[in-house]
Amino acid sequence: MTLATHGLDGCPAARTVLLSSVSDAGFRFHTDARSAKAAELAADDRVALVLAFPDRAQQLVVQGRAVREDADESRAAFGRRSAYLRHLAWVNDVDHARLPDIERRRAWAAAVAETPDGPLDPPTTWVGYEVVPHRYVFWEGDPDAASHRTVVVRDGDGWAVDHQPG
Ligand SMILES: Cc1cc2nc3c(=O)[nH]c(=O)nc-3n(C[C@H](O)[C@H](O)[C@H](O)COP(=O)(O)O)c2cc1C
Repeated sequence: MTLATHGLDGCPAARTVLLSSVSDAGFRFHTDARSAKAAELAADDRVALVLAFPDRAQQLVVQGRAVREDADESRAAFGRRSAYLRHLAWVNDVDHARLPDIERRRAWAAAVAETPDGPLDPPTTWVGYEVVPHRYVFWEGDPDAASHRTVVVRDGDGWAVDHQPG
């Protein structure tokens, strides 16, 4: 999904993140605490998510606030990631990124050789956020009708529903 934040320079900022899980409470993703997005969220927790399903002619846009999950939840989520992504969380820092390609490949191979099934514990920099929504926009395309949006906005303890052109 696309995660949009408020850049520290005042410009919009956006990038792709993996949707780790979704529940009635919100949408979770995981990242590195040293990343730009983590700094942006510390300054302003308001975000937008875009989940696009072009094959189904559907899109979901979510606006909400990003809340840090607790360390136990992050640890459990780390365990559900592939070995590749668990290695990535340990290896992929700024120093590593600036190495020449051949050295990056050597460092990666060494990490994989050390724990072929991937590290079990996350680095302290591994963090998770839950985006707690206050507005959803469900967009649907239709080859035989006009595209259409269903807008669902938090209204006190409930939700208000509106329909808009797509
Ligand atoms: C398909 C895809 C999935 C990605 N998933 C994640 C993710 O789950 N977490 C993450 O931190 N970065 C992920 N990235 C990398 C981010 O898009 C981004 O480049 C990186 O997190 C640095 O972002 P920032 O400098 O805005 O913080 C993914 C990139 C792609 C293309």
